[in-house]
Amino acid sequence: MSSGQCRLAVLVSGAGSNLQAIIDAINAGKIPQAEIAVVVSSRRDAYAVERARRHHIEAVILNSQECRAPQEFGVKLAQVLEARQVDLVCLAGFLWRLDAGFIQKFRDRILNIHPALLPKFGGKGMYGRRVHEAVLASGEKESGCTVHVVDEEYDHGPIVLQAKVPLLPGDTPGTLAARIQEQEHRLYPEAIRLFSEGRLRIERNHVTILEVPPLERR
Ligand code: GRF
Repeated sequence: MSSGQCRLAVLVSGAGSNLQAIIDAINAGKIPQAEIAVVVSSRRDAYAVERARRHHIEAVILNSQECRAPQEFGVKLAQVLEARQVDLVCLAGFLWRLDAGFIQKFRDRILNIHPALLPKFGGKGMYGRRVHEAVLASGEKESGCTVHVVDEEYDHGPIVLQAKVPLLPGDTPGTLAARIQEQEHRLYPEAIRLFSEGRLRIERNHVTILEVPPLERR
């Protein structure tokens, strides 16, 4: 972040409503120290790609199907991000697993948003509708969303922020997903703002949110 601006890469595979929330928050001046340097999609037909184009943001398609192994995808992805001097990688509905080499290269600079209260209802195969079905079947009284730092395990790594929503009588996976997404669209921009302001101290399995960025405390 030598220029003072935090350059984001937003990685997508689907609808991109979180990408849209990040774009809107930046355009509204709510994350003054961040800009989207590139959107990377694992699918050419993801609606998120259309959203990027509408906002004149570069969209790169890295077709995960064409890569024989996650390592190959990780190497290509790192090249794309390094060429654009990306500071922070934001996974926003990105469905391709990142390999250990890529995670090591961007250690503590990759965030993900998950539609449940981790560490519950995460892990391999826990994405989309399946998460909400599992929550509804479990008898839990609440669910929510989590922004966390990405490490080598699925849906694992220090938690940055969480928001809770109640489960309501008659909820279906669809109604619950919609209630959670409203919170996601608020929470992810907030986490990115904190990162861009240098206010996240990430130590092993714990994130501390600093009241004042480190430089201003001197
Ligand atoms: C979100 O629910 C997010 O929590 C999960 O994938 C979904 C992406 O939705 N990781 P969208 O593409 O941002 O609309």
